[in-house]
Amino acid sequence: MSPDVVVDDSTLVLGIETSCDETAAALVMGGFDVLSSVVSTQVELHADFGGVVPEIASRAHLEALNPIVARAIVESGAEADRIDAVACTVGPGLIGALLVGVSAAKSLALAWDVPFIGVNHMEAHLYAAFLEDPSLEFPLLVLLVSGGHTMLIEMQDHGQYRLVGQTIDDAAGEAFDKVARFLDLGYPGGPAVDRAAMLGDPEAIRFPRAMLNDGYNFSFSGLKTSVMNYVRKHPDVGSADVAASFQAAVVDVLVSKARRAAAEVGATGIVLGGGVAANSLLREEMLGACEQDGIQGFLPGRSMCTDNAAMIAAAGWHRLRSDGPTSLDVGATPNLRLPFID
Ligand code: KG4
Ligand code: ZN
Repeated sequence: MSPDVVVDDSTLVLGIETSCDETAAALVMGGFDVLSSVVSTQVELHADFGGVVPEIASRAHLEALNPIVARAIVESGAEADRIDAVACTVGPGLIGALLVGVSAAKSLALAWDVPFIGVNHMEAHLYAAFLEDPSLEFPLLVLLVSGGHTMLIEMQDHGQYRLVGQTIDDAAGEAFDKVARFLDLGYPGGPAVDRAAMLGDPEAIRFPRAMLNDGYNFSFSGLKTSVMNYVRKHPDVGSADVAASFQAAVVDVLVSKARRAAAEVGATGIVLGGGVAANSLLREEMLGACEQDGIQGFLPGRSMCTDNAAMIAAAGWHRLRSDGPTSLDVGATPNLRLPFID
């Protein structure tokens, strides 16, 4: 296929995701119609270690990827020779894990003689909302909250992003994971805190809301320390109350900064993206805030918030349309950044 390939509503993209601990493949037509989305999680392999072990992740991707791609194709009901392009996460992520997906995606693109599209994993999280509502109107304010990133982004158009604010230390997901580990709530941490918090009182402990009224950057490292200090001083405190109070502090800051930023940029709505966007309280509070402010709140379904390949295929479709195919010389980049405009 030549670089000036026509990309339209019938263009079928195979997405592949192996940047961290989910092996995923999906078929998406026209940038938003999800024909299949298969995710195989490695959570159990890493649970004993309390975090993702890179070498174990790469090996598990290697074993899982071919069957997962085959399943995605079968479940889509499409023939493999109907696939128009192969999109794959090229970064950010763990280098060994990324390389498994990138090598497979390039091989399939070569074998099928279709374009390869290198996708930025963070950009793909931005596109998860478009899978459910392709008619979203710009400018949008995106709160991107994952295990490695916490960012407020003004999305002015497809591919046009301005960084409004970001964390100066821990990412929101990292704070959830560390607090869950400290409270011994289980792995992975975010969903464990979410579940525990449902049984606790969010007002039991008033944890600090760092930088609440101070610009658009975030800081979660002090909050994590204050949770630890509080529990050490009050060993009999119930972990559900601690989880609920911690979660309330994180959500308070995320929602308050997002709505202020949305007002400043005149956004039509706030979009949530990234694994932490699966958090029950964050979803509820964000929708409530958007309703109060008379703007739209776009919350992708939980399975589209956490890592998946449908978002990779969707972002790939947009990149293919705007930039054409990616050169096969492009490799995996562990610390790949979003292309921000000033
Ligand atoms: O986007 P993601 O799946 O992977 C990265 O790209 O990082 O995000 C994973 C992060 C983890 O820190 C996980 O604990 C957090 O998202 N997470 C949650 C919830 N589900 C996943 N955090 C809070 N509440 C949840 N329900
Ligand atoms: Zn992610």
